[in-house]
Amino acid sequence: MTIINKLTLILCGCIILLPHAIFAQQSEYSTLPPPRKLTTEQAKVAEKNYQKYCALCHGADRQGHVNDHAPSLRSKSLFESGVPHAILRPISYGRVDTAMGGYLDEVGGPMTLDETWDLTYWLFEKAGYQRLKLSTNPIQGDIKRGEQVYQKECATCHGIKGEGVTAPALGNQSALAHNTDEFIRHAIRYGRQDTPMKSFKDKLSSDNINNITAFLRSKASGWKMGKTVLKAFPTPDKYVINKQGDDPHFKLSDDMFVSSDDLNAALNSKKKMVLLDTRVPSVWQTAHIAGSIPFPYYADLNETVEGIPKDVQIVAYCSCPRAAAEHTINKLRRKGYTRTAVLWEGIFGWIQMGYPVMRGDIEDIANK
Ligand code: HEC
Ligand code: HEC
Repeated sequence: MTIINKLTLILCGCIILLPHAIFAQQSEYSTLPPPRKLTTEQAKVAEKNYQKYCALCHGADRQGHVNDHAPSLRSKSLFESGVPHAILRPISYGRVDTAMGGYLDEVGGPMTLDETWDLTYWLFEKAGYQRLKLSTNPIQGDIKRGEQVYQKECATCHGIKGEGVTAPALGNQSALAHNTDEFIRHAIRYGRQDTPMKSFKDKLSSDNINNITAFLRSKASGWKMGKTVLKAFPTPDKYVINKQGDDPHFKLSDDMFVSSDDLNAALNSKKKMVLLDTRVPSVWQTAHIAGSIPFPYYADLNETVEGIPKDVQIVAYCSCPRAAAEHTINKLRRKGYTRTAVLWEGIFGWIQMGYPVMRGDIEDIANK
């Protein structure tokens, strides 16, 4: 072998080995093969579903934080650690008590199981990152110490009780039921790129990151098993509530908004109106204002306005607190429905103020 050949061999070897060496140093994780690739047709349907159902909050470009501090659906750390389940499960079942409803038909949503899987993989393909192999083992840590660090470093955005203020509800039991310890720790270590969630890898010790993870996990207890029994939707003859009542004569602010106080007073004195719940119907199933019709923001008005008279006061609400309701009311106004309003505080504000909702029909399996 000539010297030149030998040199070429050594050089090539280095070039081949070099990126591996760098990569191995950067990441302590091994990678997973990419999941099933979508056919062109599946990808088209997934994209359509995304724009129809998700863009309202997560943004047309999956950038997040358009409404309701809905997280980014294109960050590196989410897609390398979350496919399929940490992404599929919230799409299918939602996160109870947050604005994220379930989109699977079994819980009252508009999508089939295949469609929720395809949407998960479509998001993955669009994000374009490699999946990492994360351990599913629990992470050990000092829960008490974790709580102290959590309150100091995380509570401003995630809430004192992990209820979510400007960021996801980390103490949410459906999130904790879906997300593994490693998924949570990965997010804390690496942050979520291009969002307010910064990386804590260089700010907190790895012990403290483990402590916080263990603390968050400890909040998963108390999860109560419940079985949802889907309620039948009201039929058009039930759309107008208090048919014999007087008009509520609401005073709207900005020609659009009615307050929870005024709406509650009008309902108590049996005023005539139509109430639209503009969220995904799965959340109407769990809690809604009595008398409201499920009327999701993505509904095709040509199919859904039948039975809604033009001369009756319509009030729409959502949990955004207003985005989905305003979107719907603007569509209705363009169709000539002028007696329309949006509930200012949204349904969570309404609940917070102590006004009543129907809790849907949750059967408690524990009591059976
Ligand atoms: C400045 C506000 C802010 C602070 C402080 C903050 N976070 Fe976040 N965090 C966010 C936001 C916003 C997101 C959602 C980002 C996205 O994906 O769009 C997030 C996402 C997360 C997620 C991912 C949740 C999921 O379901 O995917 C975890 C876990 C998390 N944060 C943990 C923490 C912990 C632990 C701390 C404290 C050490 C902390 N965060 C501090 C704003 C914050
Ligand atoms: C009404 C607003 C809204 C709509 C519409 C909505 N989401 Fe969400 N989504 C949220 C919020 C808010 C969260 C965070 C909830 C929490 O944990 O506090 C979230 C969380 C998620 C998560 C978890 C992300 C993470 O970082 O852990 C995924 C995945 C998700 N949504 C996907 C979707 C998809 C796909 C659709 C459409 C089928 C959709 N969402 C529709 C508001 C919405």
